[in-house]
Amino acid sequence: MKFQTPRGMRDFYPEEIVFRDHLFAVWDKTARLFGFEHYDAPLVEHEDLLKRKAGEEVVEQIYSFNDKSGRRLALRPEITPSLARMIIARQSQMILPAKWFTIAQCFRYERTTRGRKREHFQWNLDIIGHQGIEAELEILAAAAESLKSLGLGPKEVKICVGSRRLLEGLLLDSGFKPEKLEIAFLILDKRGKISDEVIKEMLTKEGISSSDSDLIFKILAIQSMEHLNEEFGQKEISGKEEMETLFKGAAFYGIEEFLQFDISIVRGLAYYSGIVFEAFDCEKQFRALFGGGRYDNLISSLGGKPLSCVGMGFGDVVIKELLSHLGKMPAPGRQIDYCLGYFQPSYSTLATTLAAKFRTEGKKVDLCLKSMKAGKLFSYADRKGAKKVIFIAPDELAGGQVAVRDLETKEQSNLSLKELGIDY
Ligand code: HAM
Repeated sequence: MKFQTPRGMRDFYPEEIVFRDHLFAVWDKTARLFGFEHYDAPLVEHEDLLKRKAGEEVVEQIYSFNDKSGRRLALRPEITPSLARMIIARQSQMILPAKWFTIAQCFRYERTTRGRKREHFQWNLDIIGHQGIEAELEILAAAAESLKSLGLGPKEVKICVGSRRLLEGLLLDSGFKPEKLEIAFLILDKRGKISDEVIKEMLTKEGISSSDSDLIFKILAIQSMEHLNEEFGQKEISGKEEMETLFKGAAFYGIEEFLQFDISIVRGLAYYSGIVFEAFDCEKQFRALFGGGRYDNLISSLGGKPLSCVGMGFGDVVIKELLSHLGKMPAPGRQIDYCLGYFQPSYSTLATTLAAKFRTEGKKVDLCLKSMKAGKLFSYADRKGAKKVIFIAPDELAGGQVAVRDLETKEQSNLSLKELGIDY
């Protein structure tokens, strides 16, 4: 074959898009259930909006190009910068807090591995203009709700919650240099993907002393809020109280079982400033299902007035792998109500009239485009996933009827054209 799917990109054949449609429907329904409003933005963005100087992986993976007028543009690797651009453009008129959602196709020039493609879809939920932890809770509760709708509970998925503010508070309290925080976070996000030894080497290379490096690892070993209090006493540390409030609040949403304290979650995007979270399968076999957090400085860094935001992105790749692994992929189901066929070409006008009638009633009808024998029609309809076949054939038609076969129960009956209101 001359052309294959470009590397890392995805074709969706009809039988494969059924799952995507189902997932998007769950995401859409959940977002609306939680009062989020739909928005969208172009796939193509200004490269400058997407680029940040912090040395993030996502920025290195941008697909960029010149348009015919020489503008530097790019395929978005994420939609958060576009969201920020849209908010800044209407900042003075916006009703805040705003709760927005979208399902965005994103492109990243990644090394393709399990769970990572060069193209993926991301469900984004963002709350704009609320400083309190209530925003994090709404986002986490909506994400947990979508997991439940997909048949996943706390036994299958854990949402690991960390806090950049808390980690920062603990580090600065112990004398860590503030100017090294951002790079330290980006390096720490690689934990799990590369060994701690290599992480330490990377920290050293960035001028972080071995005692500071040891301090980081001591903090990362903290397993719970109780453990934290044991290690650091009851000291006031920035970010600690909001973590406690978050875990208490989770109980009122009934999502506490999903959440797990994990101070080692830092996230690989530089704009996060507070609570951060990532969801993983409990066996930790797969990459993150979704991730997000608070980003209070992005809007102002892009030229807007300071505005607090919290959000998350939930990809379509890992969830599919996890559901398949757990045998929880939804059964595709029969999508077509009637497959409508006929024995000879002269019946095609009647078939068209019948199809039109059923379609006005909201039935999904696959009208055959040429005549065929019953056996062939039944097998075609079954393979196409129709619930019933309607067949126009001479014997039934002589009595003013058409045959109906239920492909699930295999029962056969006749329908009277007169009762359907069709003169023939
Ligand atoms: P992210 O962690 O880079 O966050 O991506 C979010 C999710 O998108 C990941 O957890 C994963 O499910 C999926 N994902 C990312 N890259 C790929 C890939 N190459 N192949 C397959 N799936 C992928 C963000 O993008 C943030 N902008 C999310 C956000 C919204 N934060 C605040 N608001």
